[in-house]
Amino acid sequence: MSGAPAGYEILRKIGTGGMAEVLLARRYPSDGLARIVVLKRLLERHRANAEIVTMFRDEARLMAMLCHPGIAQVYALEEQDGIPVLVMEHVDGPTLRAVLDAGRESSAHRLPIRVALAIGVAIAEALAYVHERSDDIGLPLRIVHRDVNPTNVLVRFDGYVKLVDFGIARSETRVVETRTGVLKGTLGYMAPEQLRGRRDLDHRTDVFSLGVVLYELVAGVHPFPATTPDELATRVLGGRFVGLRSAGHRVRRSLARTIEACLASDREARPASVRDVLSGLIEEANAVGGLPVPAEVSRVVRDLVPRLALVERDERRPEGPTRLSRSPASMAPPAASRSRSRSRRRTRSKTVVVALALALVVVTAGAYLVGRVLAGR
Ligand SMILES: Nc1ncnc2c1ncn2[C@@H]1O[C@H](COP(=O)(O)OP(=O)(O)O)[C@@H](O)[C@H]1O
Ligand SMILES: [Mg+2]
Repeated sequence: MSGAPAGYEILRKIGTGGMAEVLLARRYPSDGLARIVVLKRLLERHRANAEIVTMFRDEARLMAMLCHPGIAQVYALEEQDGIPVLVMEHVDGPTLRAVLDAGRESSAHRLPIRVALAIGVAIAEALAYVHERSDDIGLPLRIVHRDVNPTNVLVRFDGYVKLVDFGIARSETRVVETRTGVLKGTLGYMAPEQLRGRRDLDHRTDVFSLGVVLYELVAGVHPFPATTPDELATRVLGGRFVGLRSAGHRVRRSLARTIEACLASDREARPASVRDVLSGLIEEANAVGGLPVPAEVSRVVRDLVPRLALVERDERRPEGPTRLSRSPASMAPPAASRSRSRSRRRTRSKTVVVALALALVVVTAGAYLVGRVLAGR
């Protein structure tokens, strides 16, 4: 990992994808209001590839046009030795992938239905906003995310949900179209037309991917079970998903219809918009007692996924530029140092017991000797 862009301190790496690395960092702006941010930095090996550099800048430009509570906010586009670095809001929580995996391993084998619906509604709201976004003079931008999948959805520990990764999103403003013949997306979430390499993808591609995510949210398993990528692609292309109710998942008929409609291999047969899917989800939520508040989602997520400290103790600065820069979460000592201090406490109490025992032996021996001396007189 190379150094940090000027004005930033890198705390740790969050992950590395094909195009960029994602880093947790602290930003020290000139106004003194330091804060934790996420840096998405183009990998050095792509620096000379003009097409990839333009794609990366496109991602930043596109994200900067989006302002929605369900989308991670972009703050700036920095430059480090000629490499573009995207600065964005840090979403403090696990990916939906991690939440789904933990839910599947729990005793219920899936998430509670109202929490699953709340997460699904949040994703659909963000996507509907993206699809409907127009430019400043009202012309539709026709943005398609093209990579809606559980690793690109983050669930904050406080129960709010955010969509990330517009790296391959398409819009009217995109400067470069992704290279011909190169499939972009995530297998298992790509719509059949995307798998076939069609270039005229529209928002209905996202409707398909949303359908796969919704299916996993309510059932805990993938709608197209397969053991090899080829088998998976064949199943998706043939529209051969496992029916929610026929597989025994306890899902109301109307919800199963809403989700399965998204999975139609022919995009004409899918719901016309994410907004339509959203209406179905909200109706469903109303039928099962209403959408839970974020605190309820938070409780479930915290139960499923352990929350580690944001930064290690050593990374905390005793004299940071501003005390406000440190959240209460980052003030909590990390688990490792908590257990270190516990073992130090244990060692200290053992020493006290041994010292007391020694003192007792010395006092007893002294008393005995004095007694002998007195008796001998
Ligand atoms: N704003 C963010 N806050 C916290 N974690 C993030 C953020 N953006 C990305 N991540 C993490 O980094 C991973 C990769 O980021 P992403 O933008 O999806 O890049 P890639 O193109 O490599 O998939 C995500 O799956 C998520 O775990
Ligand atoms: Mg991603």
